[in-house]
Formats: sequence, structure tokens, C-alpha cells
Amino acid sequence: MPDDTHYQGRVAIITGAASGIGKALAGALARRGATVVLADIDEAGAKAAADALAAGPPGRVSGVALDVTDAEAVASLVERVAQDHGHLDFLFNNAGIAVAGPVSELTLAHWNRTIDVNLRGVVHGVVAAYPIMIRQGRGHIVNTASLAGLLPSPMLTAYGMTKHGVVSLSESLRMEAAEHGVRVSVVCPGVIDTPLLDKGNPPDLPPVTHAPNARALLTKMIGRAYPAASLAEDVLDGVARNRPIIVTPRHARIPWRIYRISPRLMIESGPRVMRRAVRSAGG
Ligand SMILES: NC(=O)c1ccc[n+]([C@@H]2O[C@H](COP(=O)([O-])OP(=O)(O)OC[C@H]3O[C@@H](n4cnc5c(N)ncnc54)[C@H](O)[C@@H]3O)[C@@H](O)[C@H]2O)c1
Repeated sequence: MPDDTHYQGRVAIITGAASGIGKALAGALARRGATVVLADIDEAGAKAAADALAAGPPGRVSGVALDVTDAEAVASLVERVAQDHGHLDFLFNNAGIAVAGPVSELTLAHWNRTIDVNLRGVVHGVVAAYPIMIRQGRGHIVNTASLAGLLPSPMLTAYGMTKHGVVSLSESLRMEAAEHGVRVSVVCPGVIDTPLLDKGNPPDLPPVTHAPNARALLTKMIGRAYPAASLAEDVLDGVARNRPIIVTPRHARIPWRIYRISPRLMIESGPRVMRRAVRSAGG
């Protein structure tokens, strides 16, 4: 049975930790006595989130600037943290963006941005941390994918494609990493109540005229939004138990099961279900 001591005195880096899931994970880890580095492209947000958590022993929580699309920056942060603390126990590759809209309206810029942040960002983390963890003979890489990484995701096609990539990377790496004592898990959240659901596409990308409201669409298709703090507890429990795939909340496992039993059923009924959901989500 895992217990809170699993994280006591451990060193963790979390990307995308200024907001939402990353911030909730940071809080849950800090409460369990871990040293946590909150890394985010939003430096002020990462520092503010770290300050808010810094009620514990000084120096345990810090916020730093990091753009996960910058491989060198990721490598240098990971090396620095491992060197400063003598080890790196957890890397949570969590930073991500949502890009929605029909494929007919996505430009190459939409595809590239989604791939750069959601997929290359995770690859950069793995390339930086895995050799260090192999040398240590231990460590746990935890990648945030999505339920969209397990199911077809119309209107979120580029996003779902990158998240399928993260699931595949994580599963294959887990099988290789085991012989080095390194663990790998992938988190596949359903709909989580974070700012991501209301942000819309990155504002510097060309506007998409038929982009549905993500919160309304996903809630309609998958179920009500789950609190990020509850997700963080589920994730830390799943990581301590070394679960390969952590799908949460529980009701998000239903569509995943249906898809595994009958992909055809979901793919064939999908367009009708989606049209209805998009209409009611105002897309
Ligand atoms: N919220 C959901 O319903 C949901 C569902 C499934 C998966 N996810 C995934 O969970 C992860 C976290 O999402 P969230 O819901 O907390 O979103 P969020 O928008 O609240 O937080 C994402 C964070 O990532 C940061 N970020 C974006 N681009 C970055 C970059 N290039 N480098 C570093 N940081 C960057 C943002 O500044 C932000 O702080 C993402 O990978 C997302 O795809 C979220």
C-alpha cells in the first residue's frame, strides 16, 4: 500500500505548474514533503504559485521560467536541479495547450504549435531526465496526456494526435526503462476544471470560426469537470502504486472501455454524438 512517505524528501520538477493540474500537483507534492520545482513559460505565475506554497520549510518550493519547446532550456533546468539536490526523483511532463476546431480550418501553424508544446515538450523532458535517472538507477517520469490520447477526438484532432503520441511514448519507454529501475506513467485526465477549458486557442494563431467552447463540448461528451486538486490526489496515488496509465476521474474510464471493446461503435456513433455536442456547445 502506498503512503505519503513515498514523496517525503523527494525532488520533483513539474512543467506547466503555474496553473491548473501542474499547480495542483505541486501543492499535493509539497504537502507530502517533496522538494518541488514549478516550471512554466509563465514565470510570474510559476513564482506566485511557488510563493503561495512556500509555507513549508524554506527552499522546498521554487518557481522558474521554462519554455518546454526549448530543448536546451529543459536540459539545463533538469541537470541543474539534479545537481543541486544530488538526485532527481520525479519529472512531471505536464505543460500543454489545447487547440480546437475542425481540421478544415487548422493551418500548419496550429498543427506545429500543438506538436511543439504537447509532444516535443514531453520528448525534451524525457531526453533530459532519462539518462540521469538511468545513472541513478531510479526515478519516475510522469507524462500528462489526456483521455484524448486514448480515444478519437474530433474537433480536437491535432491535440488528440499529440496526446496519443504521449501515451505511446510513455508505454514503450516504460517497458524499456524497467530494466534500469526507472518508472514511467502516463496520466489521462478526463475533463478537469482548469483555466485550459476556457482559454480558447492560443491568441497568436489564426482564428478558427467553428471552434466550440471546450468546457461545454467536453462536459457534454465526457461528463462534468473534476477538480484539479482531486485529480492531483489520484495521480500521486497512481504514481506511488506505479500504475502505467492513470485515467481519472473514474467516469472517464467508461468511454475508454467502450472504445476498447468496440472501436467501431464509437467511431460510427461519434459524428452524431459530436454534432449534437458541438451544437449545444455553440460551435
Ligand atoms: N483541463 C483538462 O480538462 C485536461 C484534460 C486532459 C488533459 N489535460 C492536460 O493537462 C495538462 C495541464 O493542463 P491544465 O488543464 O492544467 O491547463 P492550464 O492551461 O491550466 O495549465 C497549463 C500550463 O502550461 C503552461 N504552458 C503552456 N505552454 C508552455 C510551454 N511552452 N512551456 C512551459 N509551460 C507552458 C501554461 O502557462 C499553463 O500554466 C496539459 O498537458 C493538458 O493537455 C488537461
